[in-house]
Amino acid sequence: MKLQNQLVYIAIAAALGMAGWVGFAQKAEGQKKKLAISIKPKDVADALHAVIASDREVYTRQAVLGKAGQGMANPCEMFRLSSEASASKGVEFSYVLRSLKSSRSRNAPETEVERKGLARVAEHPAEAYYAEEMQGGRWYFTAVYPDVAQHPSCVTCHNQLKDSPKTDFKLGEVMGGVVVRVALEL
Ligand code: HEC
Repeated sequence: MKLQNQLVYIAIAAALGMAGWVGFAQKAEGQKKKLAISIKPKDVADALHAVIASDREVYTRQAVLGKAGQGMANPCEMFRLSSEASASKGVEFSYVLRSLKSSRSRNAPETEVERKGLARVAEHPAEAYYAEEMQGGRWYFTAVYPDVAQHPSCVTCHNQLKDSPKTDFKLGEVMGGVVVRVALEL
């Protein structure tokens, strides 16, 4: 073997050796790293909302296609029924649909944080509103996410609802809010 070739092989072997050592050092570093929990109540609320909103989005589309089935609940009744079902399991969070212009009195805001949050998301549809609030002697992290008329059926149905205080909802408009509450104490 020529000296030049030998030198190339030595260089490659050295490079591989170095890469292996770096990999080992990184692994050792990883094992040394202590568990430092950085998940915050906001992350939990945002994650719950991602699931709730996706569910709602898909169900609304399916309902319009007639796939939700005859006699099935509309997307908002579905939302309330699921929320009640999860509450009955004793989970440490809750979620409700609210609006300052609600068609049902049960969906009107009940706390100051809900009122503030709904007013805020109506003006800033791209942002959620977050606050801490005390309810029944317990602290909660409360998030209010804008509930947007993402589908024409949201508007068509609501503008015709018997008790709707508003009959000119438009596509893309904030119709209310999804309120997610996460218990901060057990
Ligand atoms: C087929 C009719 C129908 C469709 C479609 C519909 N809703 Fe509703 N919505 C209702 C009814 C009925 C309620 C009251 C539900 C309850 O309290 O059980 C409601 C409740 C709500 C509320 C709570 C305030 C209120 O008016 O009571 C919001 C906010 C809302 N809907 C937004 C939407 C959005 C956004 C969409 C589309 C993704 C949508 N709705 C689609 C019928 C509908």
